[in-house]
Amino acid sequence: MPQTSKSAEAIAPSGIRKFFDLVAATEGVISLGVGEPDFLTPWAIREASIYSIEKGRTTYTSNYGLLELRELIAEHIFNHYQVDYCPENEILVTVGVSEGMDLAMRSILDLGDEVIVPEPCYVSYKPCVELAGGIPVSIVTSPATKFLPTIEQLENALSKKTKAILLGYPSNPTGAIMTRERLTEIVAFAEKHDLYLISDEIYDRLTYDGVHISTPSIPGAQERTIMLNGFSKAYAMTGWRLGYACGPKDVISLMNKIHSYTVICAPIVAQKAAIEALKHGEESVREMVEHYNRRRRLIVAGLEDIGLQCHMPQGAFYAFPNIESTGLTCEEFAEKLLFEEKVAVVPGTAFGAGGDGHIRCSYATSIDKIEIAIKRMCKFMKRHWPGNVSPETDCETIGSR
Ligand SMILES: Cc1ncc(COP(=O)(O)O)c(C=O)c1O
Repeated sequence: MPQTSKSAEAIAPSGIRKFFDLVAATEGVISLGVGEPDFLTPWAIREASIYSIEKGRTTYTSNYGLLELRELIAEHIFNHYQVDYCPENEILVTVGVSEGMDLAMRSILDLGDEVIVPEPCYVSYKPCVELAGGIPVSIVTSPATKFLPTIEQLENALSKKTKAILLGYPSNPTGAIMTRERLTEIVAFAEKHDLYLISDEIYDRLTYDGVHISTPSIPGAQERTIMLNGFSKAYAMTGWRLGYACGPKDVISLMNKIHSYTVICAPIVAQKAAIEALKHGEESVREMVEHYNRRRRLIVAGLEDIGLQCHMPQGAFYAFPNIESTGLTCEEFAEKLLFEEKVAVVPGTAFGAGGDGHIRCSYATSIDKIEIAIKRMCKFMKRHWPGNVSPETDCETIGSR
């Protein structure tokens, strides 16, 4: 056999996948593992795409995506964040944020360029930098800094090779949201050192206690920001594979060049569905956010009651409790919990070094399942670490509404 690519082999496999192979082999599991809405795509959105297929709309579109969709995206961003993007040349419709991230990296990086990546973070960030020939430079965030990077950390990570800072807020896995104050400082830092900002805002609509601050809305940021977003989370459209990138026209044009050679365009059926989502999907988004918020309160209260300290997530749909008090590593904790109580959570280390001592619990699952999971976790904690759980905590009633 000829040799396969050494650089592709050098990329670490996703820590999530490894763990989910274990989960798949275990019966009767309640999963708090998957970062995917449990809701179906709202019917009107599905129907719009069925209708477009019936009408025979099954062709390629412009590489940039349907102009009608780009116009709606521009309007949507302006309505939410008062940021103006030109639909003609500053917006590219992509195959999810996943493709947008890959294109962004490949468009701005040359071999050996560095990208500062605050961790813990979404599993694809560092591999995307590496696949584009870049070098990710991690900085570790923690509950003490509300999982936000500090300017001091950015200063320490900076080198002559630094090209960009990658921001992912609301955060997967921590649920942290960015503050206007910190973002303003980060933008000033990026301006001072002439860096790009890559901002993954896929969870922008899923915030609870605070509001999402979009990176390009900060004065001075838009000209150096590639903002990525998509339909997977807010509209429960993971399988449609649709996202978009907004940025300076020269960068978007480069991204489009790569996109046109690799995928040509995003699927028209999904683009038609996204048009409907942006035109009439707001009510569904609001309803889903209400559900997530109820689940968030339930899961965080449950985790605290069983002795696992949990920073209050303000966005996305993940709780990220600290399990250090158990004396186990997060991998040991997750495996033991899976084998003994059949509850799947993701070890924090899957999201980088800052994930040590934490597990990620997704609450994009039904309230009933969250209740069962908390009851099982309660028994698990009482059995092994009775001192951590208050004696009044009753595992039969905990988590019940
Ligand atoms: C932070 C973050 N960015 C991007 C993605 C991938 O998004 P898409 O489905 O649009 O490719 C995910 C999926 O879990 C995510 O959590």
